[in-house]
Amino acid sequence: MRISVARESDPAETRVAATPETVRKLVALGAELAVEPGAGVKSGILDADYAAAGATVRSDAAKDADIVLKVRRPSEAELTAYKRGALVIAIMDPYGNDAALAAMAKAGITAFAMELMPRITRAQSMDVLSSQANLGGYRAVIDGAAEYGRALPMMMTAAGTVPAAKVFVMGAGVAGLQAIATARRLGAIVTATDVRPAAKEQVESLGAKFIAVEDDEFRQAETAGGYAKEMSKEYQAKQAALVAEHIKKQDIVITTALIPGRPAPRLISRDMVASMRPGSVIVDLAVERGGNVEGARPGELVESNGVKIVGYSNPGRLAASASGLYAKNLYAFLEILIDKKTRALAVNWDDDIVRATALTRDGAVVHPNFQPKSAA
Ligand code: NAI
Repeated sequence: MRISVARESDPAETRVAATPETVRKLVALGAELAVEPGAGVKSGILDADYAAAGATVRSDAAKDADIVLKVRRPSEAELTAYKRGALVIAIMDPYGNDAALAAMAKAGITAFAMELMPRITRAQSMDVLSSQANLGGYRAVIDGAAEYGRALPMMMTAAGTVPAAKVFVMGAGVAGLQAIATARRLGAIVTATDVRPAAKEQVESLGAKFIAVEDDEFRQAETAGGYAKEMSKEYQAKQAALVAEHIKKQDIVITTALIPGRPAPRLISRDMVASMRPGSVIVDLAVERGGNVEGARPGELVESNGVKIVGYSNPGRLAASASGLYAKNLYAFLEILIDKKTRALAVNWDDDIVRATALTRDGAVVHPNFQPKSAA
């Protein structure tokens, strides 16, 4: 059983899919590991570290691999390097990328999308959305604080008092809750909003104040999977009015709102940005999925009337931590694909976790949510 670890081809990607720790564990499971040169450099891992953990380092690592570990979906050029039938495991970003899924099917690879991991107890250790969002939420506060021209905690000094900053977190899922906790640790006055009623108690338990229109629609706004639903136009208008009033008085706003499979909801309009005081900072963590903030741009800091809008892609700004957790998520997933007795690949296609994450197999897109339009 050969496993390869890719050097990410997207220059903006700083993470890597394995660490020396997971390499060692995979070798112990019976795998031969091959790592592409330079794969871990941006995460602070040298080729020699992988070699010391038992991997070989070579540029054609993917060629004969039974399993390819990646962070991002393989490009068409990368696909040509894989053998047919290879398992390729990555964060595949499948929504709205039908052509890319078709290309993976055509290349004959078996693609698994880690972000489709079901949120069941058994799969918690494989949940990349949580492991990466948690770090993203933390980093958003660090980025926001760095761009803000004042201190976050209240400081009483001989020269006068510095007031505490007001931080507003929109979307209180995994990223948002970590942002709340981080902003509280830094001494800010924190408020937060979400469309899921369950979020209220979680926000309050972290010492922040919950702000939302709590009508009947709000009370039912959670799917069985625990995710947000897309809200009605009427609700969105009521919530927007409440938020518009609140936002004027905030110093740092962090937006994290996502709805699986849909573009990120637009929460902050240009007018709302204009209503904020110069020197305020907005960090849009949903920027890669269309953005919560009008005017936010992926990877950039945009200034509008003295308000800074930060659109950095976040888990990658903590590459070493993000790679460490992502690699462990992958290892946990591989443990269920490998038979410990025979030390060989043994995929149980009836397993809930396998069924939920398998995108392509035997030349076809097999995931029910991504069937080509003509077949659906
Ligand atoms: P997410 O990344 O999909 O979305 C982030 C947050 O944005 C969510 O809390 C969502 O409700 C909120 N949101 C969506 N539209 C909004 C709007 N218009 N206004 C304000 N907020 C909006 O969500 P994430 O972080 O993946 O978590 C979703 C839920 O899943 C949470 O309840 C979390 O605790 C739960 N969860 C369960 C796990 C498990 O059981 N294994 C693991 C991880 C999370």
